Amino acid sequence: MIIVLDFGGQYCHLIARRIRELGVYSEILPYDIDLNKIKEINPNGIILSGGPGSVYDKGSPQLSKEFYDYVRGNKIAVLGICYGLHLLIHQLGGKIEPHVQKEYGRTEINIIKPEGLLDSLKKREIVWMSHGDQVKEMPDGFQILAKTDTCPIAAYQNKKLKIYGVQFHPEVIHTPNGNIILNNFISKIANAKKEWKLEDWIQKTIKEVQQEIGPNKRAILGLSGGVDSSVTALLIQKAIGDRLHCIFVNNGLLRKNEEIEVQKTFKENLKFKNFHYVDAEDLFLDKLKEVEDPEEKRRIIGHTFIEVFENKTIQLEKAYPNIKYLAQGTIYPDRVETSATSNASAKIKSHHNLTLPDDMTLEIIEPLRDLYKDEVRKIGIKLGLPKEIIHRHPFPGPGLAVRIIGVIDKEKLDILREADEILIDGLKKAGIYESLWQAFCVFLPLKTVGIMGDYRTYEYICAIRAVESLDAMTANFAKLDLDLLEKIGTRIINEVKGINRVVYDITNKPPGTIEYE
Ligand code: XMP
Repeated sequence: MIIVLDFGGQYCHLIARRIRELGVYSEILPYDIDLNKIKEINPNGIILSGGPGSVYDKGSPQLSKEFYDYVRGNKIAVLGICYGLHLLIHQLGGKIEPHVQKEYGRTEINIIKPEGLLDSLKKREIVWMSHGDQVKEMPDGFQILAKTDTCPIAAYQNKKLKIYGVQFHPEVIHTPNGNIILNNFISKIANAKKEWKLEDWIQKTIKEVQQEIGPNKRAILGLSGGVDSSVTALLIQKAIGDRLHCIFVNNGLLRKNEEIEVQKTFKENLKFKNFHYVDAEDLFLDKLKEVEDPEEKRRIIGHTFIEVFENKTIQLEKAYPNIKYLAQGTIYPDRVETSATSNASAKIKSHHNLTLPDDMTLEIIEPLRDLYKDEVRKIGIKLGLPKEIIHRHPFPGPGLAVRIIGVIDKEKLDILREADEILIDGLKKAGIYESLWQAFCVFLPLKTVGIMGDYRTYEYICAIRAVESLDAMTANFAKLDLDLLEKIGTRIINEVKGINRVVYDITNKPPGTIEYE
């Protein structure tokens, strides 16, 4: 196993993910984790991530003397990336200084010694830099491996101590041969065996959940039928069986037949005994009546969901007093977007999934919290989740309410459900559904004039949104085939009463967002 110590760098999770992709299990721990925890894990290697601070700032994150004694005594390989590289030098007796000429972005690097960490690299490579400080003087025993025009020590090694450092980021795709460097570290320096498989993660996580919940306690889970909550449900069910209670809330904002399909999958196919269906359509639609503002809609939906969920939980707790845990399908990008929006001055959209009532006393379990969507999908396949759920596009918590501009009502929702079904059917038949991150219809409450047969029509507009993305942080509109769009658009106009015009959205994110509200 390779541990990644988090010093607050924005790519920290990406490092762990790349190592896992290379076949070695990797986990992220806070930089100030109790050393005993690291000793217990007994890792082959430790990577120190980047971070926003400078090593000489007062209160900047540092490592203890015991940490250095431990890695030295046990010959554990250490790789410092950016801040991590500075910290090693700073704490081992070298010198770091701010550099006037800061380096950001794509940079050409000169490999001085193509060995060890930089084995198999060419003399010149492209890397992704992002730093202000740099190494000025190295302690004894350290050798320079690479430099750039403005950074004379861009990578170093101390073979005896097994300590390595790179000033740039090998984990991002903008460093095209970054994987070679990480692979050199894990295989040639840390000697980690590439034995990690998803099955191991699944078994380990099931065991951890079993240990945490114990033999008698129970857990509840808000199941949406999306891939994240479904995979979480299956994992926890494997750990504690029918002591998992899933609550599925029909908020009236779901896609066509969704409530029927989710019930069928979990109750009939996957044999979930404690699957609780709550029909709250009327309550949600009543509360949303005449509400126009997007944030207000999201707020109401979030609060109403919590209210419904809480009521059902209280009811279940009466029947099962040992319900003590709340499982959630939070994945890593959810945590990033939520914290980014809650700390930043500009709140973009409030994602309600991570907000819990203040007085909820249940312990939270989030087994997927460090994973990315594609990793979750792979785990879902291993756990036997049906293909339709695995490849289903993400669907926002506030559902179709954020895909109808302004005030929503049942009539508009039904129109949108019909149009959306035609779009998805068309994309699936064309064989491109799975290659898209998301595709959906949006209801624009604007009426325009049309002509059908000999009749004048005056109906609403439907926008089609289809995007390609890796993690929803950025997205490009999909360059769909125009004949396919024509076929789908024509079907929508012909078959959906209430729509007489279809438009295609060509906005990227940024500057747009994927959803409309
Ligand atoms: P935006 O519209 O912010 O969406 O570009 C990014 C991704 O997040 C999904 N999304 C949500 N998911 N609860 C969710 O679970 C929400 O409130 C929510 N709002 C947006 C959106 O579908 C896209 O995949």
